[in-house]
Amino acid sequence: MAIGALTWNLSLYLSEYFQLRKQEWWRQLKRGLKREFRDLDPNKMVYNMRGPYHVGSLAFGETPVLSVLKILQTLDLPKGSTICDLGAGRGLPCLVAAAQGYRAIGLEYFAVYTERAQRIAESMGVDAAFIAGNFLNQPLPAADAYLVSATAFPEETRAQLKLKLDEQARMVVAQDWILGPPWEHERMQKLPVSWGTAQFCYQRKTPDPEANGAP
Ligand SMILES: C[S@@+](CC[C@H](N)C(=O)[O-])C[C@H]1O[C@@H](n2cnc3c(N)ncnc32)[C@H](O)[C@@H]1O
Repeated sequence: MAIGALTWNLSLYLSEYFQLRKQEWWRQLKRGLKREFRDLDPNKMVYNMRGPYHVGSLAFGETPVLSVLKILQTLDLPKGSTICDLGAGRGLPCLVAAAQGYRAIGLEYFAVYTERAQRIAESMGVDAAFIAGNFLNQPLPAADAYLVSATAFPEETRAQLKLKLDEQARMVVAQDWILGPPWEHERMQKLPVSWGTAQFCYQRKTPDPEANGAP
């Protein structure tokens, strides 16, 4: 890992450590991720699979715990609401949401992540379910809000995913992606991610006037 990435991730870890070290769920999460992903580096896996210049939408990166907590606080959904992460990676955002009392569903292309993330959820005793599959080829799980780490998604992935979100979602927090109509962009929040920072775009689907009986 390059020295810049190493020091950035160390600083993310230290801020988490100082703020969350007394929280049992955080310690369980960290232990679970270490235990389950000891022998699997997602960055290396994707790099080896597709080569350095063609990772497409499968590029890996992670939203750190403090950023996920900030997103949950901003969304301000009632506890027990369902949050779905489309492209759930190692499951971190889902596991944090579940530890805060939400129902979490993670849809992720690689079964090797979802199986391990599910074991972490079980060891933490939280309500998170991980499904392996391509989100473009199946109906989206029903949820109150969707997280989409779209930074590395190519245009064609975004276009196909948008059609599904238009049909099935009401609230979306997308990384570095403003969906456009029929979505209303409510706010943008710059937060740390494992590769630097990203703009988290909070978007709500505007009601269809015709569906509401307007002429
Ligand atoms: C940048 S990572 C983000 C992981 C996690 N959401 C987070 O924020 O920490 C994006 C993830 O989306 C997954 N992904 C990309 N395209 C996908 C697709 N079509 N179906 C399912 N998962 C996909 C990748 O494998 C990768 O794990």
